Amino acid sequence: MPNPASPSFAQGVAELRASEIRELLKLIDRPEIISFAGGIPDPAFFPLDAIDNAYKALLADPAKAREAFQYSISEGYLPLRQWITGYLQANEIDAAPERVLITSGAQQALDFLGRAFIEPGDAVVMSAPSYLGAIQVFGTFRPRFISVPMDTDGVVLTELEAAFRQKPKFCYLTPDFCNPSGVTTSLKRRKAILALAHRYGVAIIEDCPYEELRYENPRIASFSALEADYLRQPGNDGRRLAIYVGSLSKVLTPALRIGWICGDATLINKLVLLKQASDLHSSTANQIIADGLARTCHASQVAKLRKAYKERRDAMLAALEKSFPKDVTWTRPDGGMFIWLEFPESIDATELLAEAIRDIQVAFVPGAAFYANDQKRNTARLSFSLGEPERIREGIERLAALLHNKLRANRAA
Ligand SMILES: Cc1ncc(COP(=O)(O)O)c(C=O)c1O
Repeated sequence: MPNPASPSFAQGVAELRASEIRELLKLIDRPEIISFAGGIPDPAFFPLDAIDNAYKALLADPAKAREAFQYSISEGYLPLRQWITGYLQANEIDAAPERVLITSGAQQALDFLGRAFIEPGDAVVMSAPSYLGAIQVFGTFRPRFISVPMDTDGVVLTELEAAFRQKPKFCYLTPDFCNPSGVTTSLKRRKAILALAHRYGVAIIEDCPYEELRYENPRIASFSALEADYLRQPGNDGRRLAIYVGSLSKVLTPALRIGWICGDATLINKLVLLKQASDLHSSTANQIIADGLARTCHASQVAKLRKAYKERRDAMLAALEKSFPKDVTWTRPDGGMFIWLEFPESIDATELLAEAIRDIQVAFVPGAAFYANDQKRNTARLSFSLGEPERIREGIERLAALLHNKLRANRAA
């Protein structure tokens, strides 16, 4: 007899677990804690005046307000899809509004892509480490994850090719300032990955929520842009394998829940049906507001965020350089919100977090959570998006002192 207190969940749901890390991070919501844990935008930069004006203007226009609060089409609000198309075209992607689906954040885009492709046991390729939310959502469809390690240019090609030989359903990558590693895939590596994708017929999901948060070096063409170029060349195979996932969360505000997918027409038509079956459509009111904000303040938001987050990144990198033990390594991201630490093998980052919260009131995310397989427990993710440079310096110095003590104690033991 099924026990009502423990219902027989589907396996993908039964396997969902709250992590020990999440339990630890519940302790950090106190003002005395300097937290490098949350990978979220600083709310101080939300364009609140523009949002206020946009809602007021919407409600002052009765016809528009009725449209905003009515049901609407699953594809998404056409003017917003047109804005997204223009944005993608400006970045050399051959987008078209009918090949763009608006989703409730990039997270829902990943959910739909998982649903569209994965049957239990199917192989799925991800970088190691990878975005936790992608591991979680794809995990609910019970794939067999194949993890491919990264070097400073992106995923390692020999291992990627070995993974592609196992006929995966797709390869999921965050090419710019990866969450969590901060690594940006180089242009040369992108071209090689795309060539491999076409040789083996593997779809590439490129998750690009951070691409505008670039603090140095020129933008690198996305897989979708490189593929658009390839599809214009004679003798191409005519296949559109790159799937672009975008989001307005990091530049405007996550609360509007606006993300999108741009890809092959057949895929988008299927995903529209999934969207219809799932939640009919994203909030029309939010899409109308997002459309107005995208047109009026996307560029100024990008400029403001680049300046502020660059300062914070620089402060964190300088503090790491100045005070961290020499046997700890870290990435130097060109943008985004994250720096990735690798400690000597003797350090377990989850244990370190417990001590850091208790003894020095500093928090970060242990890296183990970001591995679909073979967790590296001596790694950690630091986010520099929240907090003034002075507080960042203070937190890094405290963490450095704790690490020096621990490493000294380990050596003595
Ligand atoms: C790599 C990556 N993809 C997707 C998301 C989800 O973004 P959204 O707010 O658009 O759902 C995040 C959020 O942190 C992210 O880091």
